[in-house]
Amino acid sequence: MTMKVFPPFRLDQVNQCLWRSTEDGAEEGITLKPKTYSILAYFLDRPGRLVTQDELLESIWPDTYVQPEVVKRHIFDLREALGDDSKTPSFLETLPKRGYKFIAPVRETEPASRTSPDAKLVGRDSELGELEGCLNRAMGGQRQIVFVTGEAGIGKTALVDEFRRRAAHSVALRLTTGQCVEGYGGKEPYYAVLEALGSLCRHSDDVLRILATQAPTWLAQFPAFIRPEQRETLQREILGATHQRMLREILIALEMISSDKPLLLTIEDLHWASHSTIDLISALARNRASAKLLVIATFRPADAALTGHPLRQVEQELVVHHLCHRLNLEPLEEEDIAEYLAGASSETMVPEGLAALLKRHSDGNPLFMLAALEHLQQCGFIKNEAGSWSLGVPLDEISLEVPESLREMIDAQIESLDPQVQRVLEVASVNGVQFSGGVSIAPASVDEERFEQICEDLSRRHRVLRRLGSIRFPDGSISSRYEFSHALYREVFYRRQAPAQRTRTHRRIGERLERLYAGHETTIASELAEHFEHSNDWLSALKYLRLAAENARRRYANREAGVILRRALKLCANLARDERAEWQIRILTVLGMMYVADSDVRAIETLENAVNLAMQHGSIDVQSRALTDWLLPLSWVSTSRALEASEQALVVCESQSGLSRAMSRKNSHFFRIWVGEWNDADEAACRDALREIRDLGDIVTRSYFEAQYALLLWVSSEYREADRILSQSVSNLTGSCEATHVNLLLLYWVHQMFGSASLAMAGEWGQALDRFRRGVLGFEKNGNEYRAKVVRLHQAWAQLLMLDFDGVLNLCAMSYPNPDRAAHTERPVLGDPIPIDARICLILRGSAKLGAGEIDGALGDLSIARDGMDRQRVLLDWYWRMPLHSALTDIWLAKGDIEEARREAQEFLKASLKTRERTHQALAWEANARIAMISGDHDAVAECIGKALSIVERWEIPIAAWRVHATAAQAATDPELVRGQWKLSVDTITRLADSLPPSEPLRDTFLSAPPIRRILSGQH
Ligand SMILES: Nc1ncnc2c1ncn2[C@@H]1O[C@H](COP(=O)(O)OP(=O)(O)OP(=O)(O)O)[C@@H](O)[C@H]1O
Ligand SMILES: [Mg+2]
Repeated sequence: MTMKVFPPFRLDQVNQCLWRSTEDGAEEGITLKPKTYSILAYFLDRPGRLVTQDELLESIWPDTYVQPEVVKRHIFDLREALGDDSKTPSFLETLPKRGYKFIAPVRETEPASRTSPDAKLVGRDSELGELEGCLNRAMGGQRQIVFVTGEAGIGKTALVDEFRRRAAHSVALRLTTGQCVEGYGGKEPYYAVLEALGSLCRHSDDVLRILATQAPTWLAQFPAFIRPEQRETLQREILGATHQRMLREILIALEMISSDKPLLLTIEDLHWASHSTIDLISALARNRASAKLLVIATFRPADAALTGHPLRQVEQELVVHHLCHRLNLEPLEEEDIAEYLAGASSETMVPEGLAALLKRHSDGNPLFMLAALEHLQQCGFIKNEAGSWSLGVPLDEISLEVPESLREMIDAQIESLDPQVQRVLEVASVNGVQFSGGVSIAPASVDEERFEQICEDLSRRHRVLRRLGSIRFPDGSISSRYEFSHALYREVFYRRQAPAQRTRTHRRIGERLERLYAGHETTIASELAEHFEHSNDWLSALKYLRLAAENARRRYANREAGVILRRALKLCANLARDERAEWQIRILTVLGMMYVADSDVRAIETLENAVNLAMQHGSIDVQSRALTDWLLPLSWVSTSRALEASEQALVVCESQSGLSRAMSRKNSHFFRIWVGEWNDADEAACRDALREIRDLGDIVTRSYFEAQYALLLWVSSEYREADRILSQSVSNLTGSCEATHVNLLLLYWVHQMFGSASLAMAGEWGQALDRFRRGVLGFEKNGNEYRAKVVRLHQAWAQLLMLDFDGVLNLCAMSYPNPDRAAHTERPVLGDPIPIDARICLILRGSAKLGAGEIDGALGDLSIARDGMDRQRVLLDWYWRMPLHSALTDIWLAKGDIEEARREAQEFLKASLKTRERTHQALAWEANARIAMISGDHDAVAECIGKALSIVERWEIPIAAWRVHATAAQAATDPELVRGQWKLSVDTITRLADSLPPSEPLRDTFLSAPPIRRILSGQH
């Protein structure tokens, strides 16, 4: 909450009042009527801008018709309060017939504390002292995490507020607070942290700069602070980010934010925090880097224990390791209560025995004590006049009148309130701890003026409410905000209502919020979901739960997103049959695709459930979509099942039309190749469908399918074109969808692997290496270990082409040190490689071992990979079989087993001829040529060399070219021919080496590898 300053005034938005500095440096408070206050706040939000009368009417009285004279009256009052003259204004200028303009400069300052400054805090001197000690240590660079704990009403908030107030007066600090909200824990990851950080951002460009450079994933959470020109870079920067990255970034950002001025971060009511928030606090505590940071978090241990919240365990661990402090608040003593009653003045009269009575009844709980005091005053048993207390009846009688428990006490207080006031509070309690007139007046059946009057009265006379300031809704209207002075009050008002009435109120509040936030519902999705769930409006609840899950995804809090979606699945049970299936499919799809994006094997089963429901209840489009979504994860474990599903999808899509049909066809035919094997007919069908998609699809759809087609180009040796299309598609999609969009994420990753691998195959080694390295770093930075590992494997493939065997072994070991077990498994364990990744790792590792002369080790690895492929076919096996056979051929040659070598070489050739992969085809002919040379079969040599050369000559496949030309030179007898082929080989080698920068060590590695040295030295 901000403080607006326009000297000599400042508008205190927390306590909703105006302060004026007097000449002696003191401040005097000026009370404004709520609407006058709102008008002033409205002007201060728009200094220097014309504000018309109509605008004021619409914003300040959105739902009521008000005579323009009323505005004039408030403007008059405002001028009075500011001492401004309408003829020669210093603050508010009237622009005749047009409106008003606030002409004085307005500045914003640090947020203020929540409790009123005159509330006296007693009995907490030692706690204040401890906190002060923590602050001192924090200022010395020793970060401090303090948990302030105790039962409801024991005074945690009061203590922290008082400490903040004192600290702010004594040293230059940055202060910020976040409030966890009941019911948001599972739905709103980082809610309180974002609140605290948002408020820092509003007050400091430095903080915004730090977020932009150090914590882009956090900056992305505040769209209002992102400059338009920043948007795309930011989007690119955070692609594929994860929970880990968010945590790492906020740790660094908080360190930097606190580097010039110490930071005091308060998080209230941590027992309602999201798991992500607890992770963050724990990470902050465990990080031992120096930081001028003091984090104070309050919570009620009993509440945390009741709900099995992770907080308790985390706190205990931190306590055991001395990584935090714990301040457990004890009940007030009788002397403290006496001190409270005595107030500031020593003259105050306090009847003998009153403090003891209050202590006895309240057990020293300040909230109870205050409520009892209030109650006794209301009943006329005690009186407070000019600060002094007196008894209306003897103490013994009073004692009988104090209710047994705090709850009963509050009940008793409530009974004394006017029925309309009670109703207002009941409606307010349905909103939550905080509420506003704009949302509550209709269900409470009062107008805004009356609502404010009631709330003002409640906050002044009874300590039930606190004024919070005003809120501006997205529809432009402004309304005063209040909060229950204690969550317990809210709870009592909430519970005392009949369930049916509560349900109705939830519905009306939900509907009102929908109108106020029209077009911006996402920002309050979980709040809306909560209201609609409580009003049994399941469809609306589901709609908003889905949005809430998207919000959680945007914060990379997949755990929370999963919880929300699983909750939504449960709610589906309340729907009628058809609607139920429709929603179940929708939610299973979102959940399943989220798992796909995370390469989480739960995707398979989740999407299978969606398919089963879709086949029974869904429309043709829904069926087709469900089947295609299922294809990818299914292909992780089974080619045959994935092919069956794609057959089914092809049948279903016959009944579709237009773009949907084209997309389904494209997907099915593509997967038949990608998962099954290369097939010209499927490729032609893909091209056909792509043409239609180009005509009918929007940019997102087009880019996605173009990129998918580029993968077929990659395996058709159209390397450069494949990379070009992938780059283009990523760039199109980055500009058009959110960073958490599943397709964008997958595409970006695919680009990092196959785009860069394509460059390597095209002989652009320098560029490829650079891109791989940046890709791996990028995913590591994002905390996305899985994707980093797979990109690293493809980098290893590129380095194998460069004959950097040690490098390959290193990269493989970094990705998967033990790939053997995972090379064949129907049910991959979360975190383990899926079979194809394990096999790629084995094939690369085996090939590198072969290159390094470790023949038996190589054979071991390659045999496991082959065994896996023979027993369980999965996606892309058909492609990786080619390098597998190639390496096995060379192993048998090295072992001198020519028969085995011939068998492998023939398999290699057969596998490659089924595809359009020219590099492998040429290499397969070349391998067969070498075997024919050993056997002395000259015709076969001539045929194989001829075939290999004809491919090499027609395609840009330098990886195969240098070998084919070298073998051709070796096979030739005509010296001219020998020299010609030798030269072609050397030229290709030189070009490949030259594609690496001179400073790149792999250049030397390649040039000094034995086969290359042999060729370069002319020994053929
Ligand atoms: N030491 C104290 N001296 C005087 N008044 C106090 C003291 N502690 C708390 N109070 C008053 O008691 C009421 C309840 O305190 P507070 O809201 O701080 O409790 P809490 O521990 O934060 O409760 P919760 O767990 O529900 O958040 C407040 O009105 C507060 O001003
Ligand atoms: Mg509190």
